[in-house]
Amino acid sequence: MTDQFPVREGIRHCEGVALPAIAAAAGTPVYVYSLAAMRAQARAMHAALGPLGDPLIGFAVKANPNIAVLTALAAAGMGADVVSGGEYARARAAGVAPDRIVFSGVGKTAGEMRQALEGGLAQFNLESLPEAEMLSEVAVAMGVTAPVAWRINPDVEAGSHAKISTGAAHNKFGIPIGDAPAACAKVRDLPGLELKGLAVHIGSQLTSLAPLEQAFGRLGEMIARLRSEGHQISTADLGGGLGLHYDPSLPPPPSIADYGAMVARATQGWDVRLIFEPGRLIVGNAGVLLTEVIRVKESGEARFVILDAGMNDLLRPSLYDAWHAIEPVTPDGEQMVADVVGPVCETGDTFAFGREMGRLAAGDLAVIRTAGAYAATMAGTYNSRPLAPEVLVDGDKWAVIRPRRDLESYLAEEQVPEWLSR
Ligand code: LLP
Repeated sequence: MTDQFPVREGIRHCEGVALPAIAAAAGTPVYVYSLAAMRAQARAMHAALGPLGDPLIGFAVKANPNIAVLTALAAAGMGADVVSGGEYARARAAGVAPDRIVFSGVGKTAGEMRQALEGGLAQFNLESLPEAEMLSEVAVAMGVTAPVAWRINPDVEAGSHAKISTGAAHNKFGIPIGDAPAACAKVRDLPGLELKGLAVHIGSQLTSLAPLEQAFGRLGEMIARLRSEGHQISTADLGGGLGLHYDPSLPPPPSIADYGAMVARATQGWDVRLIFEPGRLIVGNAGVLLTEVIRVKESGEARFVILDAGMNDLLRPSLYDAWHAIEPVTPDGEQMVADVVGPVCETGDTFAFGREMGRLAAGDLAVIRTAGAYAATMAGTYNSRPLAPEVLVDGDKWAVIRPRRDLESYLAEEQVPEWLSR
């Protein structure tokens, strides 16, 4: 895949735009996204999976829910995988057709069910019997039929970080695969529900195809069994999860083409419409977090590069010990070793320990790579730091797609009750 953040004439760019120009106009920290990079990934996904019938490739909105990003991906042929009323509303606002939206998630509320049934959707992926009962009641009250699939838990260890592995028996997700026949019988008995198929998603940032293939194998066996019991199975949702190459010192994860070949093998003869829910893979490498070095602090043996981006802007290193490349915007060819930290008052506000990287000094700009997925979307305002803006680049033009919130707007929305004396 072409790197859309190359250094040209000593200056790092996003596509045709020099990053210092964006920093000067939008301030730092700022998330910068390459339209070409996300389009290329969407194209690669369609190229790899398109030949398998007419699959629905729904972008997992949670990875990057900005409406401009969703609009670009919808135009590139992607549907949406949503897990909340908020994500559903975003997908619709971005022009995703209702029949290209899958509603996942373990805690859908009656209000969210109503919202999606009113607006329309491809299917709800159900995760428990009480959820099926609630959806049945909601659908009956509305006088509609809700299309559903059962998300099964295949009891497969995904081999990813424990906090983002979802397919083991002890995880909260899906129903035990052995319960699928009874669950499908239940759907047949409940009014207002129509069974479409099965779904599986075993985790995120997977770097091996083996657990996926194992999960898909179990899904395929269950589809055959359900059909033998008289159920019509017309969809199989294979989730997302394919990982990215964050750390170049580790072997690269399987390619999209390898993934496509494995899926073709695993799903041969299933005779269903396949659904996919990729998130990270589509947008991860399309984004960077552009940040300025506030100062370099030498302290005993240690050297800290202190950025103006913090754990509130990119939680992944702190939450999952995730490794993100950190690179100067104007590299001078020299290297340094440092801990790279943010300004937040927690030791966990550390992006990298003892990192060997291009030299950075106070006032320099740097990028934290692979920040197009699970970065802005997981940001918070801890330490009263306003959410950073988002910028989208297309060739040599760029636009702010979410402005920086000014401090006053945060202060203005909080209210001191009258009865609290000042
Ligand atoms: N489908 C379902 C049902 C999911 O729960 C997820 C991700 C996806 C699809 C998309 O997975 P992807 O293709 O992006 O791996 N915040 C974590 C990742 C959490 C993923 C949650 N579910 C991180 O920063 O690594």
